[in-house]
Amino acid sequence: MTTKRLITVTVNGETRSAEIEPRLTLADFLRHTLDLTGTHVGCEHGVCGACTVLIDGRSARSCLTFAVQADGHAVTTIEGLGPEPGALGVLQEAFQRHHALQCGFCTPGMLTTLTELLNDNPQPTEDDVREVITGNLCRCTGYAGIVAAALDAARRIQEGA
Ligand code: FES
Ligand code: FES
Repeated sequence: MTTKRLITVTVNGETRSAEIEPRLTLADFLRHTLDLTGTHVGCEHGVCGACTVLIDGRSARSCLTFAVQADGHAVTTIEGLGPEPGALGVLQEAFQRHHALQCGFCTPGMLTTLTELLNDNPQPTEDDVREVITGNLCRCTGYAGIVAAALDAARRIQEGA
């Protein structure tokens, strides 16, 4: 039997502690221990990007991260991207405006990935946006709406939205 480990993680600004198996992935910790099911799990081996979350502001594959590795760190999921619970942020509104999602399976990973981009590079070019989402697969949209939404959000943030 494996010895459980007590971890404390700041998730979307809230301190969460739990005793977990060391082999538990961050994706399963978020989804099954904390009931934050907005983080999606597709390939479970680092390819699709659906499980992407932010750890201390940097994008990370939660399917390839053990929850114990997040101990003492701040994790942001799709549930924490809006300005307040139930409210959409500028990037999320832009996704809605540009029809940047259909089934929505890739959307949490797209939004966390693009949030990191806009934090790092507030005025990205189309090439910048396309490059950063090369690690996020979308089977529905053809990516055009996603790129348009990211550029629109960047412009609106610059204008003080
Ligand atoms: Fe993690 Fe696909 S589920 S990259
Ligand atoms: Fe369906 Fe992207 S909206 S996979």
